[in-house]
Amino acid sequence: MSKVDVLLGLQWGDEGKGKVVDYLAPKYDIVARFQGGPNAGHTLEFDGIKHVLHQIPSGVFHEGILNVIGNGVVLDPIIFQREIEDLDTFNLDLKKHLVISNRAQMIIPTHRMLDQAYELAKGDKKIGSTLRGIGPTYQDKAARKGLRIGDINEPNFLERYNELRDFHLHILERYDFEAKLKDEEEKFFKAIEVVRGFDILNTEYHINQALVDDKKILAEGAQGSLLDIDFGSFPYVTSSNTVAAGACIGLGVAPRNIGEVFGIFKAYCTRVGSGPFPTELFGDEGEELRKLGNEFGATTGRPRRCGWLDMPALKYASMINGVTQLFMMKADVLEGLEQVKVANGYTHDGQSTIELPLYMESENFEVTLNTLRGWGKVQSNNFDELPDGLVEYVKYIESSTNCPINMVSIGPDRTQTIFRN
Ligand code: IMP
Repeated sequence: MSKVDVLLGLQWGDEGKGKVVDYLAPKYDIVARFQGGPNAGHTLEFDGIKHVLHQIPSGVFHEGILNVIGNGVVLDPIIFQREIEDLDTFNLDLKKHLVISNRAQMIIPTHRMLDQAYELAKGDKKIGSTLRGIGPTYQDKAARKGLRIGDINEPNFLERYNELRDFHLHILERYDFEAKLKDEEEKFFKAIEVVRGFDILNTEYHINQALVDDKKILAEGAQGSLLDIDFGSFPYVTSSNTVAAGACIGLGVAPRNIGEVFGIFKAYCTRVGSGPFPTELFGDEGEELRKLGNEFGATTGRPRRCGWLDMPALKYASMINGVTQLFMMKADVLEGLEQVKVANGYTHDGQSTIELPLYMESENFEVTLNTLRGWGKVQSNNFDELPDGLVEYVKYIESSTNCPINMVSIGPDRTQTIFRN
């Protein structure tokens, strides 16, 4: 019997998970998404091609892999159709290699409108949501009102859709939000036909049978641990459990069947949207890092906020996830800096601490930074030949987290990846 390996982000998303899944995928029989939805943007680059996936698992570009959209995902049929069409040129035979859980919740057009109405109403306290309808869809799931993908094949689907839509329209009216639905509904029902063309299954049975058959499964996380609804910087978070435990719920896998947990992090930190970011760099410093790292959102194109690596936050994420291996991304972006800084602790209410407080944005919260030497250009794809400064950086992170860094990424392409051993 095999186990499910989990790959997830340890920061505020955009760590480069798409690249790693794409790299690891050939070692797996199944790649499965377990939470989130079209708020994600997993960028894959290979053979000079750049492709961004939102809801479809990152195993699609490899032959012989079954890609599963698990029950924990919120799926937008319209965006799904667009993604399928965008993949047309690759001749992937997706109907054979992609299945959808009948229990995955469905994003309907009014969910997206509610997202906008709620954000507008929050004013300067807005979350900075991607406005893809994620929050309102998970809200309807918890309220036991939502529609699931399997419902599209039920005889009363239309009736239930209308009921949910009308419920949303009442709320939107109260927010003075003008719901322009005609075009969106047209697109939605066309997209439903596209979804119907795929296998909609009790994917939890498939996944558990695959484990019994000793098949290798990779659960692909979206967003990042610091955006987790329970452990992230609430309320500036997404609406799902992005941490490793989310893979159990979002795929129907027992905790004892989780194997490796690959924790992906960038050599520095970024964040899109609002919320606390203790090591954030402002002005020219922040701008320089943003340019060097090309830090613009894959889903919304928004500029990402940039800052130094935050060790207490990374340790926290490693602990909550039970990370067994760390993968460091974008080490090349810091190349050429004489010095790099790392947060090694916080001061909260005058006390030194390495614990994340309930509110990191509190006035009495400060970060303490450690300065390390930088490194020059990485010349070789051999882990043992990394520049000295980078070796020190790797060792510093390993000793703080008590976890090995087994991969360092030095560029977006598949080939720019350095594995230990
Ligand atoms: P939502 O999940 O779209 O409602 O967004 C909630 C928060 O999570 C916002 O700050 C978003 O910018 C952030 N977020 C959501 N998805 C991603 C992602 O895939 N990468 C980075 N940030 C994300």
